[in-house]
Amino acid sequence: MHKSLNPNQDLELTWRNDKNHVIHPYANFENFSKEGSTVYAKGHRHFIYDQQGQKYLDGIAGLWCVNIGHGNEELAAHIGEQARNLAYYNTFEDSTSPSAANLAAKLASLCPGTLNHVFFGTGGSMANDTAIKMVHYYFNMLGKPKKKKILSRNLGYHGSTYLAHALTGIASTHIGFDLPKDDITYLSYPLSLPKT
Ligand SMILES: Cc1ncc(COP(=O)(O)O)c(C=O)c1O
Repeated sequence: MHKSLNPNQDLELTWRNDKNHVIHPYANFENFSKEGSTVYAKGHRHFIYDQQGQKYLDGIAGLWCVNIGHGNEELAAHIGEQARNLAYYNTFEDSTSPSAANLAAKLASLCPGTLNHVFFGTGGSMANDTAIKMVHYYFNMLGKPKKKKILSRNLGYHGSTYLAHALTGIASTHIGFDLPKDDITYLSYPLSLPKT
């Protein structure tokens, strides 16, 4: 039996649209083809609700990014104001916007020592890809083009883009992908797992 038991037509359509059109990372496609997704349609503070109205503690905060909870009026007001004023602008070359410049200054004031510059990206995978790109570029500019080795821990999760997935030390997820692993050395993890 699939997970769309709710008579609510909109949610049934959502479940079907998802099943027919969304590609889900980390999905077990055999189960997914039978059951589809659980539709989380509503959130309030640190709780979310599925299509049957079942309430859950959103312990992973979306994917670690809903840090001040769902339905926060103050945040919604700021997002609305920003969208009306300037929906987006990039920071390529010599462009910026008040939001980028002022947030960078705020973050710099909170960071220790000489950590005074911010590179804006779209998520964790991009942050890791960019950090490695910058380090490689830095050493290339210093005339040390062979300084490329990256150490990563087995079982560590670093994201899903090409390099961030390669950095992710979960070997079972590498199967079938041609990931760029030549410069990566995987180290043991600081955790003892129960024997199975
Ligand atoms: C430790 C860590 N690094 C990187 C990532 C990847 O972030 P994103 O999903 O925003 O690309 C995650 C995501 O869960 C993470 O937990």
